[in-house]
Amino acid sequence: MHHERIAILDYGSQYTRLITRRLRDLGAFGLVYGPTATAAEIQGADLRGIVLSGGPKSVLEAGAPDLDPAILELGVPILGVCYGQQLLARNAGGVIHRSAHREYGKAAIQVQGADSVLFHGLDPEQQVWMSHGDHVEQAPAGFTVTAKTPGVPVAAMENLALRRFAIQFHPEVTHTTHGAAILRNFLHACDMKLDWNAGHFIEEKLKDIRAQVGDGRVVLGLSGGVDSSVAALLLHQAIGKQLTCVFVDTGVMRKDEQLQVQEAFAPFDMQIRWKDAGAEFLGALAGVSDPEAKRKIIGKIFIDVFDREASQLKADFLAQGTLYPDVIESSGIGGAVLVKSHHNVGGLPDFMKLKLVEPLRELFKDEVRRVGLALGLPEDMVWRHPFPGPGLAVRIPGCVSPERVKILQNADAIFIEELRASGWYRTTSQCFAVLLPVMTVGIMGDERTYENMCALRAVTSEDFMTADWARLPHDLLEKVAQRIVNEVKGINRVVFDITSKPPATIEYE
Ligand code: XMP
Repeated sequence: MHHERIAILDYGSQYTRLITRRLRDLGAFGLVYGPTATAAEIQGADLRGIVLSGGPKSVLEAGAPDLDPAILELGVPILGVCYGQQLLARNAGGVIHRSAHREYGKAAIQVQGADSVLFHGLDPEQQVWMSHGDHVEQAPAGFTVTAKTPGVPVAAMENLALRRFAIQFHPEVTHTTHGAAILRNFLHACDMKLDWNAGHFIEEKLKDIRAQVGDGRVVLGLSGGVDSSVAALLLHQAIGKQLTCVFVDTGVMRKDEQLQVQEAFAPFDMQIRWKDAGAEFLGALAGVSDPEAKRKIIGKIFIDVFDREASQLKADFLAQGTLYPDVIESSGIGGAVLVKSHHNVGGLPDFMKLKLVEPLRELFKDEVRRVGLALGLPEDMVWRHPFPGPGLAVRIPGCVSPERVKILQNADAIFIEELRASGWYRTTSQCFAVLLPVMTVGIMGDERTYENMCALRAVTSEDFMTADWARLPHDLLEKVAQRIVNEVKGINRVVFDITSKPPATIEYE
């Protein structure tokens, strides 16, 4: 990307990603770098400013992460947040103290004077979010104290000549009432255009893709998920028929999955190979009940099938819908460089030897959705819940058979249909049916039944690392249960899962 940029040095704060998100929401493109990044690594004509993040260490500790002094010479504005403030203060000769006790939570700051750049146009007293063990006791020479609290003598400081700004509190946390405005004031000091949006991204990315791919051929595994769908549309717009997508039907996908993907992509005239490999997958899964063995079988066959298709196509590049959180994660906190190139995040093995094209690697999920909408991807696809690679196989605990897959597909389709009809699909993060390996007795009409039990799973989640069970209304649950038992042969009982993650996981295997 050549978009003007803010470099965010990550000193390990849980909030670093949030800073990046907030900057992007304000229209500024921010990229995260490791704490040992050097001036050479972050400099560039597109660099407009630098943010030094918070972190769990103390600048008073030996071996705590430091700042390459040459970064201070890059001539762009710098904003230090919490640990970042203390680093700036220490490097300029300020006095840092260990606080008597860790301060965590809301605090009220008093803005000092009327000339502050960061607090320009904002209330003189405002609520902020603090989370720190150390504080700056005395600002370094050249810095003016611009905010205080009763316990923190330097809640904010500025050196206007050097365009350095520092705050003890966290502007990225919503409890800081004017956090976004403070960040916007910093961005003004950086002279940023604040024009980072889906349209700009697409325009620049199309050029990037063309430059990278030249007249090469690209293959992309289209799953029907948001990420691969948006990546496919971007590439298609950039290089047209040089892109071929491969959709592999694993036989353990949702009901009418292929049909839905076909319909969504019909208007785009893309080259898509539809590979029905259901028999191959289900054949290999027959009689296997161990969850990890099932996952391995599916992963291996997927790679074999995809590889056969890719080699027939004689592709030069493999496109993947890798997102920014994966890139940050695989670089690891404490890493040395700008998000190191990661290897096969959710991807394919090295033997494919294809060069990677990852058009979404700078984007967060909600940005991907915005790009998808701007490219004309239907809303239904843009807001699809995630679906795991091993598909329904991990939602059929025990052995998977074509019959059990069909039963589950039918039950799941009813659940999703009712969620969509009631508006609950958009307010939940992931919902699905599970076919339990339990037979129970029931009565239908005058007949005794002995059939399968089905569980409904519905969760809300920010990042799928933790999740809360969704409080679906009873009448919706009742309707879904009634329809499943009446319409799906093989299920005579429905239960609703009210376990959160942790302690449960979202999937059943
Ligand atoms: P769990 O079950 O671990 O799932 O709480 C968290 C999220 O990850 C998805 N998931 C997978 N995705 N391959 C995938 O591509 C897998 O093997 C897999 N297992 C879980 C799950 O659907 C949820 O969104």
